[in-house]
Formats: sequence, C-alpha cells, structure tokens
Amino acid sequence: MGASTAQLLVYEAMADVVLYDVVEGMPQGKALDLSEACPLYRCSASIIGTNDLADIKGSDIVVITAGIARRPGMSRDDLLNTNANILRGVSAEVARYCPDGVVIVVTNPMDVMAQLTWQASGLPKQRVMGMGAILDAARFRTFVAWQLNVSPEAVEALTLGGHGDQMVPMPRFTTLRGVSITHLLSEEVIKGLVERTRNGGAEVVSLLKSGSAYYAPAASIFQMVKAILFDEKQVLPVACLLGGQYGVDGVFAGVPAVLGKAGVERIIELDLNQQEREDFQRSVDAVKGLLQKLGLK
Ligand code: 2OP
Repeated sequence: MGASTAQLLVYEAMADVVLYDVVEGMPQGKALDLSEACPLYRCSASIIGTNDLADIKGSDIVVITAGIARRPGMSRDDLLNTNANILRGVSAEVARYCPDGVVIVVTNPMDVMAQLTWQASGLPKQRVMGMGAILDAARFRTFVAWQLNVSPEAVEALTLGGHGDQMVPMPRFTTLRGVSITHLLSEEVIKGLVERTRNGGAEVVSLLKSGSAYYAPAASIFQMVKAILFDEKQVLPVACLLGGQYGVDGVFAGVPAVLGKAGVERIIELDLNQQEREDFQRSVDAVKGLLQKLGLK
C-alpha cells in the first residue's frame, strides 16, 4: 500500500518520497524501481528507500501502513495486538522525527491504531487521522455505479463510523448527481450494496489469498495527501478524534472533515436520523471495545 501510494505521488510529480520498511533491501529496491520510472513520468522527485526511520526526518506528511495484513477468514480486528505493538514504537519515533508533520494512519484495525498513534505520539489531534471511510465510500460508489450502470465518477457516497465490520454506509447521503439512491434503488438492492461495501476489504482478501487490497487504499491515501499538501480544504470522510460531535467524545471514528495544511481543520456534523445515529453509535462502540482491550479507554 505504501509503495502504491508512492507510485501515485511520483506519477503526479507531487512530492519527494521516503519509503521505510524493516525488511532489508525491500524499500531500497522499490525506491530504485520508482526512481527509474521518473524520466518516463517526467518527475524530478527524490525517492529514497531505507531501513532507518531517521530518514523520514522533517517530512510534511507521514503515512503509516506498517503492520501485518489479514489473511482470508480474518477480520481487521484480529490484527489488534500484533499491529498495536508495531505502532506503539513507530508512533513515538514519527513524532520525534516529524514534530510538525501530519500523520495518516492506515494500519488495521485502523480507527484504534489512529487513536493509539495519537496517544503514543503526543501530536495535536488535528494532525493525526486515519484512512478508511474514503476507501469504504469508493467501494460503495463502485457498487452503486455498477448497479445503476453509470460512471462511478457520477456517484457520490458517504460512509461513517469505524473502518470495520460495523462501518456505516449512508444511502441517504449517497447520490447520483445529487439524487439520493433511496429514490433510485429499492431498499432490498441498497441493503445488498451496503453489505458488499461492509465486506469490501474481505472480498479482496479472499480473492488474493495473501495480502489485502492496495490499489483502492493507495488511491484513497493519495486524496488525503493531496488535500493536505495543497491546503485544498477538501471535504473527505476520515477517522479523526471526535470531541462531542455526533454525540461521541474522545474516540476516533470516520466522519466528514475539512482537510487542509493544518490536517483535520473542521469536522462536519450531519443531521442523522434515528436509525443512522444508532448505526453510528454501534460502530463507535465496536471501536471502543477494541480500545478497551488495549487499555486505551
Ligand atoms: C481494506 O479495507 C486494507 O482495510 C483495508 O482493504
């Protein structure tokens, strides 16, 4: 996922990139390969591969994809302890080398790992966020577009809550050029699309057999990096620390937010109906349950 994100950044000639991994030679090999694509991409960015985290020093944005990915039959939550141990160490180091950076956490279970990173790094809450809801929404857009036989670009979608099995795709806020899909598709069809979205990551894992999705996740990370780097004030659903919004305090969960150079610049609170509120709360409770297992709540 990290390498695919790097490729998108280099292809768009958007930023210098440092690829870090504990495996010797792997990030160096990826960096060399990407560097050799630069003349063809018309890119003059510098791409470094390293096993020394100190090389990220002074980065404006740090994307954390470190950790193990799930195998078929596993849920994102099954990765909890292994990935928490990896991220505890990494987070403090990231804050030491990039005290002014914005951190995007992708490691699963993502909302919990974002919260852990925020706590372990001591970075301000605006500068720690998680990538999940953009990916979930992209999957929802894809499935809706296939159903309606239209370009996925014409479909806007929203998913809220944790990036786990309890995620909350929001049909009422999912539209074909402004028209809610609740006017275009039957309840039963929408239910099927919601279910496929919730299962979207696992569906890819079950086909790949080893490893999880990386093209759509990387495209999602790319959107966030671009919004921050160019201070775009894009409104994107991201996992961030809620401070009373949506009736939740002190927990990371996916909500629409304004992303700019300061990181999460504002959280947008939508008017949810009773069912949507309950679904959101259930999803946040699942995140809280995992936080408790790690002693973080
Ligand atoms: C996914 O949903 C890896 O969580 C990521 O594919």
